[in-house]
Amino acid sequence: MLVSGNTSAELARLELSQSFSFWSPNFHDQTMPRHLISLYDLTPDELQSILAIAADLKARYKAGDRPQLLPGRILAQMFEKPSLRTRNSFEAAFANLGGSGIFLTTAEAGLNGRESIHDVATVLSSYSDVITMRTFSHQLIEDFAKSSSCPVINALSDDRHPCQALTDLLTIKESRGHLAGTHLVFVGDGNNVSMSLAIASAMTGMKFTLAVPSGFEFCGEFLADLRRRFPAADVHQVHDPAEAVASADFVYTDVWASMGQEEESERRKQAFGKFQVDGTLMKQAPKSARFMHDLPAKRGLEVTDDVIDGQQSIVFQQAENRMHLARGLFAWLLCPS
Ligand code: CP
Ligand code: NVA
Repeated sequence: MLVSGNTSAELARLELSQSFSFWSPNFHDQTMPRHLISLYDLTPDELQSILAIAADLKARYKAGDRPQLLPGRILAQMFEKPSLRTRNSFEAAFANLGGSGIFLTTAEAGLNGRESIHDVATVLSSYSDVITMRTFSHQLIEDFAKSSSCPVINALSDDRHPCQALTDLLTIKESRGHLAGTHLVFVGDGNNVSMSLAIASAMTGMKFTLAVPSGFEFCGEFLADLRRRFPAADVHQVHDPAEAVASADFVYTDVWASMGQEEESERRKQAFGKFQVDGTLMKQAPKSARFMHDLPAKRGLEVTDDVIDGQQSIVFQQAENRMHLARGLFAWLLCPS
């Protein structure tokens, strides 16, 4: 109910929470912070709520409306690896919701042995409303979150990239109008991005195919866990990229050597040579198929210039959507309903 005397920020929050009656009324009363370390930390309904809020906030943003939902709130970002999109889209998203950001490296934070994980997490979370972390070790984020008094968001680890996958769902939905039944084909490595996309697909009724060279597939443990949690998951692995893209709605690729695998670059170039997304491969896909890449891209390796710069490419829509998704995620996580 809108009452006189509300600040504009309160009015914006009230208006937004009224628009989204599916925001869980008890969610924010929980004493334990909610973390987003893997998409498994969300229910499928929660995932859809985040997408809906992000889409609504994006439409408002495009119309010049930037509701100040998080005035005085603090985002701390602690990264161990470089980042253009994730770090800056999170910071921009938080700032244009009215909050402020702190950035530090894991080494500056003392996670290189200066202090225990418990002590760093306890102290940093006492200054923050939400913390994002980009690390090599996935376990480090899990351990940090156990001692954090505020939500911790995985900004990429060696095993997962949940915010990229959420953004990609937003982009796919914008492009195709719906998620369920859509076929996403990832041509490349069974890595953090493709694993998160496989989970995202299972949670939204999408079909997911990984076209991958032998030796770089998803591990059996990952697939068994995915199928245990989502028995209807329509997830496949094949070794022939042309066969895979023939029925693709979206053809997705990522670097062959992820951050931390630089020493394997030459070996991977040999192994992934036949998995380059070039004009010839895109011709095997339906004309309506769109090309996706989380970026940064190694042009000339996993993708050629004609594809990434071509008519079917939506990579910069994906990159822009990182910020819109982040705004939706922060609003969902931190706004009192
Ligand atoms: N896609 C993505 O996470 O990009 P950055 O590594 O630049 O953050
Ligand atoms: N798989 C890539 C994703 C970069 C956004 C990496 O981990 O380096």
